[in-house]
Amino acid sequence: MAQPAILHLEHVTRQFSGTGTPAVHDVCLTLPQGDLLTLLGPSGCGKTTLLRMIAGFEPLQSGTITVAGRKVTAPGHWVPPEKRSIGMVFQDFALFPHLKLAENVAFGLQKLLKQPRQIRTRVAEVIELVGLQGLETRYPHELSGGQQQRVALARALAPRPALILFDEPFSNLDVHVRSYLRHEVRTILKTIGTSAIFVTHDQEEALSISDQLAVMRRGRIEQMGSPEEVYCHPRSRFVAEFVTQANFLPAQRKDDSWQTEVGCFGGDSTNLLPELAGEVMIPQEDLILEPDPNSPVVIRDRQFLGRERRYCLVMPSGQEIHARTQVGEVLAVGTRVQVSAVAHNLRVFPTEADYGAN
Ligand SMILES: Nc1ncnc2c1ncn2[C@@H]1O[C@H](COP(=O)(O)OP(=O)(O)OP(=O)(O)O)[C@@H](O)[C@H]1O
Ligand SMILES: [Mg+2]
Repeated sequence: MAQPAILHLEHVTRQFSGTGTPAVHDVCLTLPQGDLLTLLGPSGCGKTTLLRMIAGFEPLQSGTITVAGRKVTAPGHWVPPEKRSIGMVFQDFALFPHLKLAENVAFGLQKLLKQPRQIRTRVAEVIELVGLQGLETRYPHELSGGQQQRVALARALAPRPALILFDEPFSNLDVHVRSYLRHEVRTILKTIGTSAIFVTHDQEEALSISDQLAVMRRGRIEQMGSPEEVYCHPRSRFVAEFVTQANFLPAQRKDDSWQTEVGCFGGDSTNLLPELAGEVMIPQEDLILEPDPNSPVVIRDRQFLGRERRYCLVMPSGQEIHARTQVGEVLAVGTRVQVSAVAHNLRVFPTEADYGAN
């Protein structure tokens, strides 16, 4: 049986006064109980505005929002933020600098729990959940960035919200802490079965943390699905570009294959365009490079990334493409190479002039 929805948005729209287009435009989505959703999209596409509307900080022009089966926003109906059973964690942690760790965590509980003993018990529980035992009397400035983020999480979890909203929670942390903490946060949320929405610009973070991924563009959700679905079956060139960072080569159709300036690629029959021209998408990890002194494609740069190498190649037109290869044979910068691709993931999109705009 399908899980009941923890969040349901119907035709949610918000246009700020003095602007020509809505910041969030006709967004519909349903999040099953216990799922983690990530909103991914370029700067200004409406991610924060959407979170703020769900939290109740931002009014809507139209649409309805339902949290845990209860309508919280609808025409003529408005439940204030503190009554929505929603927790928020921000990029800058927003801890109170004059309160100790345990006092920060207890902050939202005073109104909910009458007995000081109940508050102490709940504070101790969530501090243990996020692994900060022993640091209860420290002030925020005596904690590392990663520890401060855990305090923010503990504070959001303490009132047992139905849903937690995270707006770029890891972007102020260094890369190691970030990668460790995002998996720990996922584990904690999964352990207690709390649903969450994360906002990020980071495509790797979006793929690794979420059960559902929604890619936003110009206030709309362009595609929503599991990370695998969105990565392997991007519905548009924009989604493909944003999520996979693949190469897109201008191509002309020739029977069943597509002719590019670096060679012919076999078409994917599920994705054949009626057009005679388009752009072939080739994931960086699917490119195969073979040294060939007669090839017009030259290696311009090579980066060592630990488990793989990333090559930057220049095609005759001057367009750059990128290939990621397992660490094996090393090709020198300046080497001429033939380019081919593992065929299984090949897709072709209509040429889209302004795909990069948000
Ligand atoms: N209070 C406001 N008044 C007017 N316009 C606003 C307001 N808040 C946001 N906007 C506009 O709405 C659009 C969406 O903004 P939003 O902050 O939701 O984007 P975002 O996707 O969170 O971007 P980022 O990734 O940079 O945080 C932007 O064009 C922004 O300038
Ligand atoms: Mg934002």
